[in-house]
Amino acid sequence: MKNIRIAVVPGDGIGPEISKVTLDVLAEAASSFKDRLKLDFVEKNIGYELWQETGEYLEINGIKHGGISEDILKCYDSTDAMLYVATSGGSFPQGFLTPFPVVRRRYGIFANVRPAKTLPNVFSIKSDIDLVLVREQTEGLWMGKEHGVENEVMHAQVTISRKATERLAEFSFELARSRNRLKKVVCVHKNNVLPKAFGLFLNVFKEVSHKYVDCSLVDMHTDVLPYELIIAPEKLDVIATTNMYGDAISGEVAGICGGLGIAPSGEYGVDYAIFRPVHGSAPDLKGKDVANPIATILSAAMMMEWLGDKHHSAEACRIGNRIRQAVESVLKDGKFMTPDLGGTASTDMVAQAIIDSLK
Ligand code: NAI
Ligand code: MG
Repeated sequence: MKNIRIAVVPGDGIGPEISKVTLDVLAEAASSFKDRLKLDFVEKNIGYELWQETGEYLEINGIKHGGISEDILKCYDSTDAMLYVATSGGSFPQGFLTPFPVVRRRYGIFANVRPAKTLPNVFSIKSDIDLVLVREQTEGLWMGKEHGVENEVMHAQVTISRKATERLAEFSFELARSRNRLKKVVCVHKNNVLPKAFGLFLNVFKEVSHKYVDCSLVDMHTDVLPYELIIAPEKLDVIATTNMYGDAISGEVAGICGGLGIAPSGEYGVDYAIFRPVHGSAPDLKGKDVANPIATILSAAMMMEWLGDKHHSAEACRIGNRIRQAVESVLKDGKFMTPDLGGTASTDMVAQAIIDSLK
């Protein structure tokens, strides 16, 4: 019997409702393999609502991250992967930042992967989109690297290193190879404006590309990608870019097919990964039973597939595949769609339809 331990962070807003139904779907999908694989869920919450209740925070490099503690992190340490729905980072008062970067740093997350795929009965600007955005997650223009004279002039620092870029480039080419679709990596940068920093980013991608003779590298400026995503998204496969730009473009990547309600993501370290929807905690939908659970359910499918590879568990891979197929069949059927997809079904009804399809 194999044991896999999964950390579960429901978070804030719609997080708890979505987390509950996602765990129900996982339990159903795993039930056929219960004599060979045991999934243990370690549920510990972090986030804004926890901060409101307890005032707990962690200070790292002079930055206070609200709603998290060392004790909570210790509970996650014994797990193999994490399912993280969403925390209300934007709700913290000035002087506090969201807890999520602490979790990312703790588990060495360096690549954020956001797939966009045309799904049945779901809005898509083309019928055959199947791409992934890979966003560097440790440096670039990010988190608190600011100095200057407050209220007068502030500078924010961009860091691009050979080491982090090499790791990202290798990850991107490996992904292009394993997806076995167009075997194309598009490196997105702005080296005409920051020739040294983004020049290094592109050059490292070029160097790494020589090791992947079966794959091609395309060099693209940041202002061209939003256009290509609209005009010819079917010609894109793996898109690799820096931290802030990857964050900015991820909404468009989700919007060209299906929207935030169905967009999953995986954030990868060397031997740990965190899976979560692209959307946030959607406080406007909290408690209304209308949030689409599919983004998180597909994130759980990505998690099981990754765990299957990591633990050489065919059962875990099968659980991931089965969840993906069940989601596609519910969408194809079209009877249970949440309002974001033009339907009137509730969160619970969509999850139940997925569970029924798994039976
Ligand atoms: P959001 O993604 O929560 O919501 C944006 C829009 O999409 C809203 O209209 C919302 O109703 C809709 N939406 C989101 N999830 C949906 C779902 N599952 N089904 C149907 N519609 C859905 O982004 P927003 O409003 O900018 O941020 C809300 C809070 O979430 C903020 O505090 C922000 O910091 C946080 N956030 C957290 C993230 C995370 O923890 N992964 C990521 C992005 C935002
Ligand atoms: Mg974002």
